[in-house]
Amino acid sequence: MPPPSPTISVAVLGCGLIGESWSALFLAHGLDVAAWDPDGAVLAALPERVERLLGQLRALGTATTVPGRLSIAPTVAAAVAGAGWIQENAPEKTVVKHSLYAEVEAAAAADAVIASSTSSLTWTDLAAGVVRRDRLVTAHPFNPPHLMPLVELFAADARALARAQTFYRGLGRATVVLKKDAVGRIANRLASALWREAVNIVAEGIADVADVDAALVHGPGLRWSVIGAHMAYHLGGGPGGIAHYLDHLGPSQERRWATLGSPSLTPEVRQLLIDGIAQEASGRSVATLEAERDHGLILTLAARRNAKQGVDA
Ligand SMILES: NC(=O)c1ccc[n+]([C@@H]2O[C@H](COP(=O)([O-])OP(=O)(O)OC[C@H]3O[C@@H](n4cnc5c(N)ncnc54)[C@H](O)[C@@H]3O)[C@@H](O)[C@H]2O)c1
Repeated sequence: MPPPSPTISVAVLGCGLIGESWSALFLAHGLDVAAWDPDGAVLAALPERVERLLGQLRALGTATTVPGRLSIAPTVAAAVAGAGWIQENAPEKTVVKHSLYAEVEAAAAADAVIASSTSSLTWTDLAAGVVRRDRLVTAHPFNPPHLMPLVELFAADARALARAQTFYRGLGRATVVLKKDAVGRIANRLASALWREAVNIVAEGIADVADVDAALVHGPGLRWSVIGAHMAYHLGGGPGGIAHYLDHLGPSQERRWATLGSPSLTPEVRQLLIDGIAQEASGRSVATLEAERDHGLILTLAARRNAKQGVDA
């Protein structure tokens, strides 16, 4: 697969969970990465951690034979010097990100794009700390970004947005664009709405944590990995499609919406969730669960790719 732009090299600022995963994706597509993090231990461990993730991308067949070069930058200025793309993955605090942007803007090339991975801050929150707002983009990935295709984009400037779409699509990502800046963007709003009811079901004593998760994974989750919520109901209307579905079952949806809960994370509810997860994990560590998740994701992505090739052939 050709790199998205042979002339672009990338600065990755903040190399925790999200930064290391982005790094692997960029390198796998032949882009050089200059990585910076204020924590020396994080930087020292980065090459090995990234190599493990690159192995997953090789197994998936999405890595170029000649990966990009990973270099560890001693300063923010050194990382962004010469970078055409700056992927910021600093901790989720406005003040931290703003002060990082001041350093970035002092050293970055004039046409470099600053893309933030932020999940809970809006573009407007971040723009308050940026002088050149025309090159600020929020590019929110789903964890882990080297495997999950989704990137949610927002920018005030049409050219920066178009550049972001080209860049991430070149990395095999599925981009969606917000028409206006919004807390939680699309995917986390949907995920939060769903998790609110998942918590409510446990809090109300309707079902245990493990059964809620099983119902999702074996039911709607599987279907949603192929078609979205709106399209699923279009098919739920049979030959009459969504219009028939709305006539036939729309009222029952409205009755159900009226019964959904709005739980609080009280000490009792927290304990129910913690105990329920301990039961569902049944002794598996977070590292084991992560490895199982990644294995499942890799198999699913490979199956989706094969299915698409079958359709395209
Ligand atoms: N964890 C997720 O599921 C997830 C998903 C999507 C987006 N995000 C977003 O990605 C960003 C990073 O989250 P994470 O989960 O990787 O956090 P993390 O805690 O794993 O990593 C953050 C890294 O930033 C470093 N850091 C500290 N101060 C810094 C600074 N001033 N400049 C640059 N780096 C600094 C830390 O040393 C650490 O290595 C956040 O904006 C978060 O909202 C996270």
